[in-house]
Amino acid sequence: MPIKAPRGTYDILPPNSRNWQAMEQSLKEVAGLYGYQEIRTPIFEHTELFERGVGEGTDIVSKEMYTFFDKSGRSLTLRPEMTASCARALIEHSLHTGLLPVKWFYYGPMFRYDRPQSGRYRQFHQFGVEVFGSTSPMVDAEVLMMVVHMLQAIGLSEYRLHINSVGCPSCRESYRQALLAFIDPFSKELCPDCQQRVQQNPLRVLDCKEERCRQAIKGHPRLLDHLCSNCAEHYQRVCHTLLSHNICFEHDDQLVRGLDYYTNTAFEIHIPGIGAQSAVGGGGRYNGLVKAIEGPDLPGIGFALGMERLLLALEQQGTVNRGNGGVEVFVAVMEAQYEEEAVIILQQLRAAGISADKDYMDRKAKAQMKYADKSRAALVLFVGADEVKQGFVTVRNMIDKEQVAIPRVDLVPAITKLLHHNEEAQAQ
Ligand code: HAM
Repeated sequence: MPIKAPRGTYDILPPNSRNWQAMEQSLKEVAGLYGYQEIRTPIFEHTELFERGVGEGTDIVSKEMYTFFDKSGRSLTLRPEMTASCARALIEHSLHTGLLPVKWFYYGPMFRYDRPQSGRYRQFHQFGVEVFGSTSPMVDAEVLMMVVHMLQAIGLSEYRLHINSVGCPSCRESYRQALLAFIDPFSKELCPDCQQRVQQNPLRVLDCKEERCRQAIKGHPRLLDHLCSNCAEHYQRVCHTLLSHNICFEHDDQLVRGLDYYTNTAFEIHIPGIGAQSAVGGGGRYNGLVKAIEGPDLPGIGFALGMERLLLALEQQGTVNRGNGGVEVFVAVMEAQYEEEAVIILQQLRAAGISADKDYMDRKAKAQMKYADKSRAALVLFVGADEVKQGFVTVRNMIDKEQVAIPRVDLVPAITKLLHHNEEAQAQ
């Protein structure tokens, strides 16, 4: 049996990799507009970082982590998310003593052991941002405006932004009591997972997808009615700022998020019609996280977008931009003895920033032309006896099919001009 990629993982092959590059680029550009800089952290961390940061009672920590012991017997975990890693890095480098707020973006693979399905993988990619150091509701609003800006930048027009406030630990405790009293009479009717959630974190019952649980909790008390005055005012200011910037959102009483660190503003972005895994992103405030992992009492907020789900959504909405991924110029060698001359030309073009390639499979001239056509090069350069002896190259424009001879000394400016001309013609 040939070896295959492990279940829940996949290869990103060309030309599809171009879509990934384009999306990464757009997201980074928007993050830059808002003053965020890139952080890169290790792919694995000490297991207790996630246990303490994300929370031992969460699905991620209790069921989904790739945890292993290294040769020295240390327990390490492939990162299931990056917020905890960012908080760890902030503390480790004492960045809280420097200029605040700290604004970071990141991009990379995350790992969760869950049942794979469309939009759910065991290795997946997130683009995320984190801001540390400010409790201002204006930061929450900025982060939310940025996520909307990012969705627009990658061409995603149909999405739903759900927002809620999960309050601070004290208002959440008051809500917890009210929710437990509400659930108590029918707690036996809930699914086995929710029966456990009632014990550990009853708020999680609110976002259970099981129909019987959804029916059972209809009419549940609202978190919003239990917010303390500070948390209520914070949430009001966030919503007010979003409204004044014409950001469409839905207040969602059932949104509580699956990670333990959230406080105040919590949000998710959903795409209708991409299947069960409709959340393309999620995030919120986490004012207690840095302290929970033994750092200073520093607030934070951020979000992460799932790249696979964004691409799925773009494909569904028909806006995925499929680049051809080929080179601009293909150099066709008419006789093997002129191959070295072709390599000189190739290197000259590449040095001038023009992408170029040639045949490496001993194809005959006609087959090289077919190959150049399939690989969608814009220009094909012929290098044969006449060309080498008389110091020119023959150029065939694959767009308008015209053929011209260019003196060898004018190669780079002439090719640049032709490519430019083609681009303009195609743009019209
Ligand atoms: P999360 O909601 O667990 O939040 O993940 C964010 C996004 O990652 C999800 O909305 C989804 O698009 C994608 N995602 C999660 N799991 C998978 C999977 N198994 N396969 C494919 N995509 C997946 C967090 O991770 C938080 N760290 C976000 C955050 C940043 N909160 C504050 N700052």
